[in-house]
Amino acid sequence: MISTWLTERLGLTLPLVGAPMGGRAGGRLAGEVSRAGGIGMLGAARYTTAEWIAEESAVARERGGGRLGIGLMTWSLDADDTLLGAALEQRPDLVSLSFGDPEPYVRRAHDAGALVCSQINSLEDLRVVESAGVDFVVAQGGEAGGHTGHVATLPLMQMVLEATDLPVVVAGGIGSGRGLAAVLAAGAVGGLVGTALLASPEADGPEYSRRRVVSAGGTDTVYTDVFDRARSQPWPTRWGARVIVNDFTRRWSGRPEVSDADLAASYDKDDPDLGVVNAGQSAGLVAAAEPAHDVIRRIAADAEELLARLR
Ligand SMILES: Cc1cc2nc3c(=O)[nH]c(=O)nc-3n(C[C@H](O)[C@H](O)[C@H](O)COP(=O)(O)O)c2cc1C
Repeated sequence: MISTWLTERLGLTLPLVGAPMGGRAGGRLAGEVSRAGGIGMLGAARYTTAEWIAEESAVARERGGGRLGIGLMTWSLDADDTLLGAALEQRPDLVSLSFGDPEPYVRRAHDAGALVCSQINSLEDLRVVESAGVDFVVAQGGEAGGHTGHVATLPLMQMVLEATDLPVVVAGGIGSGRGLAAVLAAGAVGGLVGTALLASPEADGPEYSRRRVVSAGGTDTVYTDVFDRARSQPWPTRWGARVIVNDFTRRWSGRPEVSDADLAASYDKDDPDLGVVNAGQSAGLVAAAEPAHDVIRRIAADAEELLARLR
């Protein structure tokens, strides 16, 4: 069994966190990651409700042996922090406050008994979240699915590990035991996995999004803001999203002159060629719709075997 700061602080049997993924990570997915021995996080999207958080937290806890993590978007709390209150009412073990300055919210989360982490994309972000008082950071590289930054996982991980005394978890492209072994060998305390869980039957969302992740190769993603613009999502412009390439991205991505109204008119969430599937480059490692529990167990077991060989 691999033991790190993360496993010890959260009582895990393996050093993996299930990514908070808006629209995809509900109670079933988060619960299965926890049941496997890691900690799964609900992805509380900006448009979700307090009721959704309460219901899905109950499911996650029941499946996951009592463990609960919840991820929120910091920039959206700045406009309305209702979802933070709803999340803290559930007394989660872990709260992720990502994409923005978490300083106004860290004390409240600590007072509710949660550990707090933030996903970061640069050394500038690291300084912001360090001074906000988070317990650990998640270095999220640009290969990651969903909203992310521009620096790739490997250089970002090295920069962050060199620059902080806080425990570091790594996200972005971990899809097998080799990826987890690499980040643990480098000095991280764990890996955070999103894309590798997207084809699992426990992931929420349309069936086509599962199929697209299985069929996508490593070169079938693009970093773009076209879906945020099409759906009037007020994401700060510094964060684009990594998504699976389809007819919509081929037609509109990289064309800033096109109006948001034109993008909205072309977008169709029910059509796989015109809707969004957020996913990272590790989609190229997802070959089947494997249950989330098995994905997590396999990644951890393979990492353990690889690390034993190093010793
Ligand atoms: C479908 C999808 C939705 C996501 N939604 C969120 C979110 O709501 N909040 C968040 O902090 N990160 C979100 N992310 C980013 C993940 O938390 C995580 O950083 C990423 O999945 C890790 O990289 P990987 O996809 O290569 O495993 C999302 C990622 C994906 C793939």
